[in-house]
Amino acid sequence: MSGFPLHPLSEVGFRFRPLLTEYGTEAGERFGWFVRSLMRPLVKGLAAGRFEGYVAQAGRRTAGIVAYAEYRGTARISLLHVGHEWRNRGVEERLLDATLADLRDDPARLPPRRILSEAMMVSHSNQDALWANRRFSVVPRLIMRTTLVRPATRTRMPLTRDAISRDGRPFRLRGWQAADVRPITEVLRRANGSSVDRDIYPELLDPEQAGAAVRGIAAGSCGRFDRRCTGVATTPDGTSIGVVLCSRCRPGEAFIVEVAVAPDWQGRGVGTALVARALDLLASRGVSDVSLGVTRANAAALRLYERTGFWCAGEFGSYSWTSEVESSDIHRPA
Ligand SMILES: CC(C)(COP(=O)(O)OP(=O)(O)OC[C@H]1O[C@@H](n2cnc3c(N)ncnc32)[C@H](O)[C@@H]1OP(=O)(O)O)[C@@H](O)C(=O)NCCC(=O)NCCS
Repeated sequence: MSGFPLHPLSEVGFRFRPLLTEYGTEAGERFGWFVRSLMRPLVKGLAAGRFEGYVAQAGRRTAGIVAYAEYRGTARISLLHVGHEWRNRGVEERLLDATLADLRDDPARLPPRRILSEAMMVSHSNQDALWANRRFSVVPRLIMRTTLVRPATRTRMPLTRDAISRDGRPFRLRGWQAADVRPITEVLRRANGSSVDRDIYPELLDPEQAGAAVRGIAAGSCGRFDRRCTGVATTPDGTSIGVVLCSRCRPGEAFIVEVAVAPDWQGRGVGTALVARALDLLASRGVSDVSLGVTRANAAALRLYERTGFWCAGEFGSYSWTSEVESSDIHRPA
């Protein structure tokens, strides 16, 4: 295809805002408006030149964009989008192939051990095949939503509650405190170590990256962090055993960013108690629409969300490619 020449992101200025706005609107309509909150760090990173990738040009306009970043052997493709005027002309394919050529085939570059993507693609009609044809595994993910009704009486919901686990152990639920970053990072890391999501979110297994993710969420990287509706579960002596992290996107809408329970406490009702508390508090504050994303194969999480009133509102794919070359076989420059 001779049209739509590709230019490295590093060589073009930040002149693709209309494309990003279109992506935010389309993905927001399809998956929920929390997508716009998730885009904030992406847009900031693009503006600051923190991503590599390409744009496809259509004359003076940007027809498509791919953006990725690599850290410690894992490359993550965060965005792959083509404007509606230029779809079905193989532009996504060219953008993705140029990216994969850089990452997998460039002899001058140490290839990543893993390439991951959860770009919520809305511009391609058969996105799973697009990735599968390039040797990526497809992990089906669901967007779940629930509608909340504001309680009729203006009773104040208690922010702290005592509860008993299904096997009789007492635990306590409370809101977020600044000192929670460290212990909750550890809960997330341990919970994800045995989760079906460990291959698509390997960052959560690394203490440093998991800590940065939790700090980022608390600082508003996924929408405005809601510290009151966010819940932390602790033992009576204050040891953290679970968390539900909540963010607000638009007025009346919230997004559950993470739910995690320490492995030795799973299956005892702690996750359900955390989500139920969060939904009660969100409803009492006038939130009527709550969304979250979950891997279809995560049976325990699906069971929890269905039981607390969520239904499946859409599907998207998470894509992962792992190098067959052991990292020790890769020649590392001295
Ligand atoms: C998902 C998670 C938060 C659930 O927390 P939890 O405290 O174990 O949840 P609960 O005990 O309240 O409820 C879990 C439900 O799933 C069921 N369950 C557990 N494992 C299951 C499995 N493999 N298949 C089917 N159902 C399963 C439990 O029996 C329970 O249902 P029940 O009450 O009807 O018996 C927890 O397992 C976890 O931290 N997992 C790792 C991180 C993760 O995947 N987070 C979700 C990201 S979207």
